[in-house]
Amino acid sequence: MSGFLKKRLKTTAKFVSASLTLFIFFSLGLEARNIGELGKEARVPALMPVPARVQLSDGKFRLDEKFYAGGQEKQGGRVFKAIARFMSRLGGRTGLFLEQDFLADQTTGPATRLFYNYERTGRLIPNEDESYILEISTDRIELRAPTDLGILRGLETLLQLLSADEQGYYFPCGRVEDRPRFTWRGLLIDSCRHFMPLEVIKRNLLAMAAVKLNVLHWHLSEDQGFRVETRTFPRLHQMGSDGFYYTQEQIREVIQFASDLGIRVMPEFDIPGHSTSWFVGHPEYASAPGPYRIERGFGVFHPVFNPANPATYKFFDKFFREIATLFPDPYLHIGGDEVEAVHWKENPQIQAFMKKHNLADNHALQAYFNREILKILTKYNKKMVGWDEIYQPGLPRDIVIQSWRGTQALVEGARKGYQGILSNGYYIDLCQPAEQHYLNDPIPPESPLTEAEKQLILGGEATMWAELVSPETVDSRIWPRTAVIAERLWSPQEVRDVDDMYRRLRLVSVQLEEHGVQHLRNQDMMLRRLVGSVPISSMEMAALRTLAMISEPVEGYARHSQGRRYTSLVPLTRFVDSCFPESLEARDFRKMVEEYLSSRQAEKARALKNSYFLPLGAIVAPLSRLSDQVPALKEIKPLIGNLGQLVVMGSEAMSYLESGTNPGAQWLENQKKLLAELNKPQAECQLAIIPAIEKLLLALEVRQIIK
Ligand code: ACM
Repeated sequence: MSGFLKKRLKTTAKFVSASLTLFIFFSLGLEARNIGELGKEARVPALMPVPARVQLSDGKFRLDEKFYAGGQEKQGGRVFKAIARFMSRLGGRTGLFLEQDFLADQTTGPATRLFYNYERTGRLIPNEDESYILEISTDRIELRAPTDLGILRGLETLLQLLSADEQGYYFPCGRVEDRPRFTWRGLLIDSCRHFMPLEVIKRNLLAMAAVKLNVLHWHLSEDQGFRVETRTFPRLHQMGSDGFYYTQEQIREVIQFASDLGIRVMPEFDIPGHSTSWFVGHPEYASAPGPYRIERGFGVFHPVFNPANPATYKFFDKFFREIATLFPDPYLHIGGDEVEAVHWKENPQIQAFMKKHNLADNHALQAYFNREILKILTKYNKKMVGWDEIYQPGLPRDIVIQSWRGTQALVEGARKGYQGILSNGYYIDLCQPAEQHYLNDPIPPESPLTEAEKQLILGGEATMWAELVSPETVDSRIWPRTAVIAERLWSPQEVRDVDDMYRRLRLVSVQLEEHGVQHLRNQDMMLRRLVGSVPISSMEMAALRTLAMISEPVEGYARHSQGRRYTSLVPLTRFVDSCFPESLEARDFRKMVEEYLSSRQAEKARALKNSYFLPLGAIVAPLSRLSDQVPALKEIKPLIGNLGQLVVMGSEAMSYLESGTNPGAQWLENQKKLLAELNKPQAECQLAIIPAIEKLLLALEVRQIIK
């Protein structure tokens, strides 16, 4: 997209967002105060996703150690375990020694303060009821829901409402009436490009539950690895995984763990392409003779199942019979994306098969394959899900199409009566700003679909593709940005205020740490490891941390074209890996620049200098020393040099702006040229403060034109 178009879109989005904030104020029944207003007060709760209706008042339910929760739940039930986690998290956040022994009965009594009540156990299927009503008065909290899933969602809201003042911790009085906008709110985790140990999956499930996501889409087979123990075809995991696979017992453990959190686990076995690892142990089902080795590189590769071989379908019949039992979810994802037809073209038997069956092209051949697979899935009571390439006329209406290439597939599918989920725009592996994902809506306001067709859009999924993440860095690519996708999928469409989203995101990001997700804490660890045994001062360490805080990995697929070839075996431990996908510090800086430029107050100029230009200028020298001494940091030398030049440029621009003197056309021209140079990635990173400096130059340029 051109920079110009991007800017136009941003301006439009801002206007729409401002008008819609007003709209929410009236439509969501925020009678007492709207959430944005509440945010301007100190120590205010951060609700994410924003509930459908919230009414808060000034009353406070004071929390003390005699806080007891009770309801009808039996030991071992979903809610029983959820209350146990709730009490432990509440204690953890407040330091209160809560008296309730959470492993005991949760019957209600005179001491009960939090009452929960639900009618039935929710089923882990799309369109199940997840609604709840939460009422908080000064001495009693009531949480009611049609299903236990609603209780789980309501407990997360209650925890997010926890507030503090001088007297202690409290829940604000009020009423929350909540239900999701979309029923399918997922996160895809790719365990193939890099294997993700069980604890990575579990801690991310906990974090998903905290923001009310309800589907783990588990990507379990790829060119780079086959990750499930199979008893029928043990060569698959034994030869296709380097020993990195989940045992069936581990899979069952994850499914139970997820079920306790009200989260479905949908497996994906990507066929007929993306399938090299299957053929290491079973070359007989491939379209070319082999032999095959596990793929180490990334991209789209030639190995592909042979759709003309009847044995292929016998194999899949046995395979899916086992898998269908292992995974109880009614849906099974067959991938179907990016099928390369080279081996199909080279195989005379396949070509003859196509002629015989009147299959005009490769798309028709894949469609034939899909129909056969569909028969097998149907036999084992599974509904088929696939990437948008699987769409073809004549498929049954209960399949689900997952759109990754654009929203058009979703619209076209819905018009023909097919259910769909959106992932295009939710590719969190691309290291784009949260805002971009946040404003991406499965059913945008301008959607051409009828009301009935809109019902077919089930929701969406964030996709954590794992080419460039390890178990150490994956959390920082998922969180906190996935929380804003969770909000898009749960909250009313009108909730779109970007600034308020970022305010809440920071608070939620910190809360997510209580689940063990390592998105924040691993940065320090990774930087310390880079420094290694080289003796440096804590000031130098702080300087390195600051640089990481204002640097971002290059966006999109650009890391693959910066000169290093990535494979699943190279280290992801460099400076770029320690940087967060979006620098919130750089965003703050840009906001402060904008405030200064619109107000031109001397006080704001001073704040900019003291908070940013001086501290950033001060880290350049220690960082240069550091990058001389630490071999692993040599590559960031140019980045440090760029930072130095940016600080000088920004400070000079500030002086001109403050004094009202004109820098002259030549100075401006030189700075713009220089800025374009400084904008080029270094060590696969981008300095995230560049847009703010650009704004200062632009303000000077505008002034020069007007004068
Ligand atoms: C995909 O990203 N190839 C589904």
